[in-house]
Amino acid sequence: MHTTVGIIGGGPAGLLLARLLHKAGVDSVVLESRDRAYVEQRQRAGVLEQATVDALRDCGAGERLDREGLVHHGIELRFDRRAHRVDFPSLAQGRGVTIYAQTEVVKDLIALQLAEGGPLLFGAQVREVTGADTERPAVRFAHNGREQTLTCDYVVGCDGFHGVAREAFPEHLRRTYERTYPYSWLGVLADVPPSCEELIYAHSPRGFALHSLRSPQVSRLYLQVPAGDDPANWPDERIWDELDARFAVDGDWRLERGPITAKSVLPMRSFVTEPMRFGRLFLAGDAAHIVPPTGAKGLNLAATDVIVLARAFAHLQAAGSTELLDAYSDICLRRVWRAEHFSSFMTTTLHTAPDQNPFDTRLQLSQLDRIASSPHAAAELAENYVGLPIEGP
Ligand code: APR
Ligand code: PHB
Repeated sequence: MHTTVGIIGGGPAGLLLARLLHKAGVDSVVLESRDRAYVEQRQRAGVLEQATVDALRDCGAGERLDREGLVHHGIELRFDRRAHRVDFPSLAQGRGVTIYAQTEVVKDLIALQLAEGGPLLFGAQVREVTGADTERPAVRFAHNGREQTLTCDYVVGCDGFHGVAREAFPEHLRRTYERTYPYSWLGVLADVPPSCEELIYAHSPRGFALHSLRSPQVSRLYLQVPAGDDPANWPDERIWDELDARFAVDGDWRLERGPITAKSVLPMRSFVTEPMRFGRLFLAGDAAHIVPPTGAKGLNLAATDVIVLARAFAHLQAAGSTELLDAYSDICLRRVWRAEHFSSFMTTTLHTAPDQNPFDTRLQLSQLDRIASSPHAAAELAENYVGLPIEGP
């Protein structure tokens, strides 16, 4: 098999890249190790920046998104029993975000690619990338019990944090930066209408809590738990009681309870590998960077990486120039570090670390009070949350 762009990974990054390349007339092959059902049911984030929405529409995946996506124009911060709404349009040049689960994004992209795109192989376990620094890189993979090779003009590692593409970068050329947080998130899905139309981010002495949603009938909630905690330690009643305590606010708001249909613990980590390119091998999405989910940046960073990369391949196809491919890593890393900083800021401002120094808690409350009282401080949060413009042509 040969293709112009070999894509490792059929998550949001790999699938969106394949669709954007298809639209630009650039052929690709997507190799995904898991089966379709597994990839489509993986519970992840649900907040889309406008650039992500625009890219999904551009590649033909906007129909259900436009029908079922929920446009949000703000979030609520809760701290010290106070509630403060951060309004996006007035603070961030009229922009907002769209709530639409990553599972649904992935389903839409898979259906589209299978219907009218290039090869998308499930159960294709990539072993390694070879010849990244040559004119003919190749991807060795196992599929249907056979070891196979895909030769490519270029390879893009969209294979997530645990993928193999990053291993093809020579050690001496790789710089990695990481931080792990002393807590995790317990994420739950509940068959109960959301108790608030917008998202609520709550700081409390007991720990962080987040009220999000998936539809007018399904709530998505998270609470800070000890790092590596086990969902089995969290019976439904304990979850609701703890969420009630953390969302506590003066006034008559009430958290509606209902059957919890999914529970999982997700780690909190920050990670970046530089550069995002080696020869004819590129990295995009979680393969290159990880953010704690507090800033809702993971999916959107993956999307903007592949938007920049697809433009670069389209430019190569149209003008025969690699100038945008050559600029890819620098353009994306500037945006990655901005998102890393914002995600770190949201995480460290809203979470109460184990044995946190009371001095640090007062600093957190002062920062939250500053956002609630200063349009400048609130604008900085709003602009980062809705997403900054993508650099480059
Ligand atoms: N061969 C083939 N496929 C692989 C391999 C491999 N060796 N290793 C990993 N994969 C696949 C995984 O099964 C997964 O489907 O690559 C895909 C990577 O997808 P994600 O981990 O979702 O990463 P990405 O597409 O960059 O999307 C980032 O997903 O994990 C969330 O929070 C993250 O919202 C962010 C988004
Ligand atoms: C979600 O709805 O899954 C979600 C929303 C906002 C976040 C993280 C997760 O910051």
